[in-house]
Amino acid sequence: MKEQLANIKREALAAFEAVDAPAALDELRVKYLGKKGQLTAVLKQMGRLSAEERPAMGALANDVRTALENAIEAAAQKLEAAALEARLKAEALDVTVPGKTVRRGHKHPMYRALDEIKDIFVGMGFTVLDGPEIELAELNFDRLNAEEGHPSRDWSDSFYFDQDARVMLRSQTSPMQVRAMDTMPLPIRIIAPGRVYRKDEIDATHSPMFHQVEGMVIDKNVTMADLKGTLNLLAEELFGKGTVTRFRPHHFPFTEPSCEMDVQCHKCGGAGCPTCKGEGWIELLGAGMIHPNVLRMAHIDPEEWSGWAFGMGLERTAMRRFKIADLRLIFENDARFLEQF
Ligand code: PHE
Repeated sequence: MKEQLANIKREALAAFEAVDAPAALDELRVKYLGKKGQLTAVLKQMGRLSAEERPAMGALANDVRTALENAIEAAAQKLEAAALEARLKAEALDVTVPGKTVRRGHKHPMYRALDEIKDIFVGMGFTVLDGPEIELAELNFDRLNAEEGHPSRDWSDSFYFDQDARVMLRSQTSPMQVRAMDTMPLPIRIIAPGRVYRKDEIDATHSPMFHQVEGMVIDKNVTMADLKGTLNLLAEELFGKGTVTRFRPHHFPFTEPSCEMDVQCHKCGGAGCPTCKGEGWIELLGAGMIHPNVLRMAHIDPEEWSGWAFGMGLERTAMRRFKIADLRLIFENDARFLEQF
């Protein structure tokens, strides 16, 4: 029996030492220490021993069991360590491989110009508003004093969604004047940039979609002098000190009096060239004092309050700001053009 135990121990320790997979180790455990295992089988013979022999043999059997259990534990740890090692190797990352360079873009020149415009007006206490491009004709026209039959409402000029011409793509940002009057407490100082749509063919100065920035002030004792002062400041901040502006009388249904503001051409300094079509001036915006009818429709008393408004073309402003000759360059997204800014 002593010999049997010694054999089991030798054989088992060698087998545990050589094992290379957790499943195989488990099989070995069953083979030696399981209910029907070899060690158990030997222990079952203990009953046949004499009372003197039993304690010594029992102690020996226990030693063998402990030795086997320790060996199994050691083998399990070895397998675990090997598995970890293999995983680390498989998931190894070569940090010396050169990376892919990320090409970093930048803001479109038109949005850079818009950021500058926002900064200038926010600095004067204006709030920046956002509004819908799909607009009610009521706000785009009626509430702006352009009644049914007004030439600007023609189907050949605007994009309508329905036969009754009640819903449209806004043709100007001016409905934002009305939205501000309807929702904000007086006094009001806002600008509202955004896209507008008109049925125009694309050429060097026209596009069926373009951007405007609307501006409006309503307060007590507001005059045309405030309008001119603000717009001259805008021109100097955007285009540099000493920028020359010109105000020409004009007509809009929602302002009275109305004007257009030009800035002297950046290409020729006023002499006349292809960029300004020989005029020497570039038209930048329409403006005027808010018509009393428009105030009244918004339930604002024109005897107590007055205001001015302007609407400027953002593409044109960016063209003047960055000396760009053709409007189409702004929309084409040609990287060779955009990289210059
Ligand atoms: N909405 C006018 C246009 O699109 C511009 C404008 C705005 C004029 C505000 C006066 C006051 O031409």
